[in-house]
Amino acid sequence: MRHTSIERPWPTARFPGILFGGDYNPEQWTPAMGYDAETVWHDDLSLMREAGVNLVAIGIFSWAALQPDEHSFTFEWLDRVLDLLAEHEIFASLGTGTAAQPAWLSTSYPEVMPVNAWGQRRRHGERMNYCPTSPTFRRFAQQLVRRLAERYHDHPALLLWHVSNEYGPVCYCDGCAARFRTWLQARYGSLDAINRRWVTPFWGHSFSAWEQIEPPSLLGDRSMQGLLLDYQQFMSEMNLECFLEEAAILRAIAPDVPVITNFHGLVKHLDYFAWAPDQDLIAWDSYPTAGDSPAATAFRLDLMRGLKGGQSWLLMEQTPSQTQWRAYNPLKRPGEMRLQSYQAIAHGADSALFFQWRQSRGGAEMHHGAVVGHAGHANTRVFQEVAALGAELRALGQQLLGARSPARVALLFSWPNWWAVEYQPRLSAAIDYLDEVTRYHSALWHHNIAVDLIAPDSSLEGYDLVLAPLLHMVSERQGAAIERYVAAGGVFLTTYFSGIIAEDGRAWLGGSPGPLRRALGIWVEEVDPLQPGVSNSIMISDGEGVAPGTYACDLWCEVVHLEGSRALARFSEDFYAGRAAITEHHFGQGRAYYVATRPEPALLRQILGGLLADLGITAPLAVPAGVEVSKRSTGAQEFIFVLNHHLDEQVIALPEPMRDLVTGQLFEQQMSLAGRGVALLVTQATRTYL
Ligand code: GLA
Ligand code: ZN
Repeated sequence: MRHTSIERPWPTARFPGILFGGDYNPEQWTPAMGYDAETVWHDDLSLMREAGVNLVAIGIFSWAALQPDEHSFTFEWLDRVLDLLAEHEIFASLGTGTAAQPAWLSTSYPEVMPVNAWGQRRRHGERMNYCPTSPTFRRFAQQLVRRLAERYHDHPALLLWHVSNEYGPVCYCDGCAARFRTWLQARYGSLDAINRRWVTPFWGHSFSAWEQIEPPSLLGDRSMQGLLLDYQQFMSEMNLECFLEEAAILRAIAPDVPVITNFHGLVKHLDYFAWAPDQDLIAWDSYPTAGDSPAATAFRLDLMRGLKGGQSWLLMEQTPSQTQWRAYNPLKRPGEMRLQSYQAIAHGADSALFFQWRQSRGGAEMHHGAVVGHAGHANTRVFQEVAALGAELRALGQQLLGARSPARVALLFSWPNWWAVEYQPRLSAAIDYLDEVTRYHSALWHHNIAVDLIAPDSSLEGYDLVLAPLLHMVSERQGAAIERYVAAGGVFLTTYFSGIIAEDGRAWLGGSPGPLRRALGIWVEEVDPLQPGVSNSIMISDGEGVAPGTYACDLWCEVVHLEGSRALARFSEDFYAGRAAITEHHFGQGRAYYVATRPEPALLRQILGGLLADLGITAPLAVPAGVEVSKRSTGAQEFIFVLNHHLDEQVIALPEPMRDLVTGQLFEQQMSLAGRGVALLVTQATRTYL
């Protein structure tokens, strides 16, 4: 049976407050490496206390340190470190250690190594470098996990189990091929069903025996969409199976300890919505590139909150200063790490944790930012900024934990849709699902409107506005749900190249946008990806309810026929001149919009601004552009985060007196916020927090 989301009041019941700390790798400081381990550990613990740390992620890469060969286990060092943590009242997110197998495992059992898309078996090294279907890998991993769980299940330092790390191995070995065939058999039952679904008769690809089906490696078939979509799904599920098998052991032995793994970036080949129900808490690693718009980060933060229906989540890693795996790895400027930490909390995180605690002497990440650098002491800018944030978060206590972010707007996001949109060969090399979705999310972000990111199968009830950019893949059921939503009074917006294929990857017949056609009141006859540098423009006349004018658009144009809808905006160039570019359809009690191109961001802001105004959806505070406002609510108390992304001071007018929980200051009518400054405002602060 699938593990369903636990009803226990995580995280508020046991969490000491906002979780604060970092990845700790104490096994590095051994006598063999020239250290007196105890001395370094004691230094670490007193520095952790000084920085306000209450949680460390430990043991994530410790398999080799815990099992030096097939038959020996060495838990004593971990016993000691966990005991020391408990004595110092610091919790552990205890890693299962299975993110990097020891060299002896790879050399004694070479079948655990993955095979890449070129059919080459990888050699030992790196991390997450194993075949996710390998029974041998899983057997050894589970053996270690069972021992860890049996040994530490009731250790007072244990707060969370941290399974593996940043999942994602992909493999094309013969074992995976065999497992894929079994997976297909269970899913579709017959070869006939697969031939139908994958439209194999095209190019004469029909299968007559299961063994003929191969993974879509670079040596094999990369042109059959159904095969590609299914292999993506299969690999996502095989990674998830590795997680679930470890989690099952932990849950059986320590039923009260939440189990997580840390997601990262936006991994295209893992369907995080499919993973989310089995995570007790969503945990995510945030590494924005220097110069990224804060809106781009906000999109990812909202997605993490959306994975479990708005449940608060854990910012599991961020660098306190710099990364080391990019071409250029600039420092975070003073105040930047603090601002980013609060941005995560503003979007639903209940923690701010760092990679890494102490900078390693060598190895893959010796230059990566750390709370404690090679200097080894607290007299550094980075340590002091971290410690100052630690003190602020400690002062907030438990009051924010679990607070939700109420939203009247939803944005549909889907991994299978992402795969399908970018499937190769495609109509345009420039089509980019994440880019398109983030354009709409950014437009909302600029209006400071909260948005829930939800999967297309989620209920739309309760939302006043639903955006579904590039909803290329739509099932009959999803289409019907959208139609009901609009008929009942909802406002829905989708874009070009939507409603083209069903969930099995096959095109809808009878006219696009397939099951969205009735609600949208349009028929799209032709789709036209534009060449680089080619653009069109959009004209909006007076009285359309959107700022009149001419706006640029590019990437894509479509020939749209109106079937009950009206053109809100028209193309003005090429053979499109005068044809609908944006349509509006009154359907039942609601309205549905179709954007048949990629408009410049200014127009998106106008369009969404108009819809929001119509619906009476407003920001928690009116602020200057570039200041972000976001609200969390416990029901009893509302918290308004104000984040100044400018480098200079900004003045913010307040509708009523508000107290800043960070400084304790009370503002009557306005407040000024320094460059990169943060405020956490409450209206009825009945106690002094600092
Ligand atoms: C990831 C990993 C960490 C570390 C950091 C470095 O998030 O989980 O082990 O490599 O990146 O940025
Ligand atoms: Zn494999």
